[in-house]
Amino acid sequence: MNPQGIAILGSTGSIGCNTLRVIESLGEKRFRVVALAAGQNVEALADQIASHLPDVVSVETETVAHELRARLFERNVDLPKIVIGETGLVEVATHPQADCVVSATVGAVGFVPTLRALEAGKRVALANKETLVMAGELMTRAARASGAELLPIDSEHNALHQCLRGETLAEIKRIILTASGGPFRTKSKADMKAATVSEAMRHPTWNMGAKITIDSATLMNKGLEVIEAHWLFGFEPEQIGIVVHPESVVHSMIELIDGSVIAQMGVTDMRHAIQYALTYPERHSCELPPLDLAALASLHFEAPDLDRFPCISLAYRALREGGTLPTAMNAANEEAVRAFIDERICLTDIPRVIETVMDEHATQPATDLDTIITTDQASRLSAIAVIEKLTKESDMLAARPV
Ligand SMILES: NC(=O)c1ccc[n+]([C@@H]2O[C@H](COP(=O)([O-])OP(=O)(O)OC[C@H]3O[C@@H](n4cnc5c(N)ncnc54)[C@H](OP(=O)(O)O)[C@@H]3O)[C@@H](O)[C@H]2O)c1
Repeated sequence: MNPQGIAILGSTGSIGCNTLRVIESLGEKRFRVVALAAGQNVEALADQIASHLPDVVSVETETVAHELRARLFERNVDLPKIVIGETGLVEVATHPQADCVVSATVGAVGFVPTLRALEAGKRVALANKETLVMAGELMTRAARASGAELLPIDSEHNALHQCLRGETLAEIKRIILTASGGPFRTKSKADMKAATVSEAMRHPTWNMGAKITIDSATLMNKGLEVIEAHWLFGFEPEQIGIVVHPESVVHSMIELIDGSVIAQMGVTDMRHAIQYALTYPERHSCELPPLDLAALASLHFEAPDLDRFPCISLAYRALREGGTLPTAMNAANEEAVRAFIDERICLTDIPRVIETVMDEHATQPATDLDTIITTDQASRLSAIAVIEKLTKESDMLAARPV
């Protein structure tokens, strides 16, 4: 049997590195890494190239490509073809020898490359949920047209995919996404307003990249996942529920029409979900320790607090209204998260920025690439204007004599 060709978008990130660990643990006979795409992390990328010898590698800019060539030359590693920017990401995503593309860049930068992989009929193992939020209709239509499989890596959707195996849609009443609740689950609104970036980055159960960690602190991550679940599995907003489960052991559940609930459980490590997406429909033993329920002793569940976490309602609103509103919401969220990480706004300003951009947005059908890209860019500009206004207001408050 020939090894399966794998291309990874975002290979130096948290999901990208875990994907390579899974590939290494399953052995080279099963998989061959044919192409890698990263942003700027030359050190990690050079190590990955030395270990996996891909044919093509993409980086964000020519300067990064220059540094990478120098690093590989010093280490006496054969140079792969090095490509740049969005064209480079697309070249990695459509590499002729790639059977499966792991989409694990963060945010809208992954949208066009992931779409091109689906159009080319590749299996896409999707972590980069923002791409489905901003253009769910376009992406799922492309997959249907080419016959490409779209398999979720996100642990909740991966769990749902496992629970849904063998069930018919008519027998399912609803799906229930679990949420850890993030670092502010038990904190007051005032604590959340005063939260520092390092407090928001302290996720209680998962170790992930910066953007998704902040999304988990505002619970916008769960909002994005509601929209992702709609596009992956075809459920309507009222059939998608959320329950807060601080231990992150139950990764999600389905409720059947007879009242039975089927849950998928596992240790809190993304390698399970990644391995499932890479090897589906087969299952293979995994190097992770087994789930020890007796050691855990108890599991807790509670309803999400929509008042302290308004991003959840914003996401349901975007899904219900549809069209370009989720695209606008996603763009506003990306800009607001960046502004929070740069300490220009506070955590509780994130939903304010998103809501203002959504209120100002004139929703249109989201059926073509140009409309999605124009909406994404325009909504970023609107978000930046709201962020500047908020920054000026807080500067004025700070300058006011007491
Ligand atoms: N981490 C998790 O456990 C987890 C779980 C579920 C879903 N997800 C989703 O998976 C996606 C990735 O998350 P992550 O936590 O792995 O993120 P991350 O650690 O921040 O990694 C992001 C990756 O994207 C690359 N990248 C960023 N900007 C780029 C650009 N302009 N051009 C090319 N590459 C670029 C980064 O490259 P450099 O680092 O080289 O700059 C890095 O390889 C997100 O959509 C997230 O929501 C993550």
